[in-house]
Amino acid sequence: MIKEVAKEIKRANFCIALTGAGISTESGIPDFRSKNGLWSRYDINEYGYLDSFLRNPKKVWKMLLDMIINFRDAKPNPAHVALAELEKMGYLKAVITQNIDDLHRKAGNKNVIEFHGNFSKLYCMDCKTIYNINDILTKIELENLPPKCKCGGIIKPDIIFFGEAIPRDALIRSFDLANKCDLMLVIGTSCVVYPAAELPIIAKGKGAKIIEINKEESMISHIADYKLIGKAGEILPKILEEVKNLP
Ligand code: APR
Repeated sequence: MIKEVAKEIKRANFCIALTGAGISTESGIPDFRSKNGLWSRYDINEYGYLDSFLRNPKKVWKMLLDMIINFRDAKPNPAHVALAELEKMGYLKAVITQNIDDLHRKAGNKNVIEFHGNFSKLYCMDCKTIYNINDILTKIELENLPPKCKCGGIIKPDIIFFGEAIPRDALIRSFDLANKCDLMLVIGTSCVVYPAAELPIIAKGKGAKIIEINKEESMISHIADYKLIGKAGEILPKILEEVKNLP
């Protein structure tokens, strides 16, 4: 199967990847819906929505701090590195990621679309002053959450909660790519959250082939042309090796 998948990547005119939290678990960042995922420790209804944050920013910032501490020390794993290599070789045109951990960019991918934002950028909800996580992380202590702006406003990470609109540019570019691609790698995502989960369906509908890499079945497994069950950090380097060996 690895060999066939490598041939599909080599043969494709426009291959893109859609990634989810599963690609970052081997970097030490828990995903959301696996056994020890984030939503097994924090109630999605109390922490996952924009109005959860607006209603009780101090409480939701406790979860955000838990996530940010994980992100801060995380490094790209072999799955991220393999995708960066595929882009460098010209086989991967873009990565659309649902992740906010910045690991695709850290791995070296240039064309990354962050569908749910990025934790490293924050802004004041009142005066809109922009902050970088490195500027404020030292000032964020458990006792004085939520972090406040100089103007007194509450600082929010530039990430998308449920009930929040996907960044317009990311939405338009992602749907355009899903319509244009002839091969989509769907890696480490349960595909339960829309509109991201629609992207493989659109691609399939336009005649693209779908290659799924996941530890288990997902909501789009039934439309996958190839299903590689296992760890992305083990499978993607093998695919990359095969692509390199093909004549
Ligand atoms: N290799 C491959 N697949 C993996 C690995 C791994 N090492 N680790 C976990 N997975 C799989 C899980 O089995 C699961 O199918 O990755 C998938 C992760 O699914 P979710 O936890 O639902 O994460 P994701 O699909 O990214 O969630 C989408 O939901 O809560 C929101 O905004 C959040 O962006 C997130 C969105």
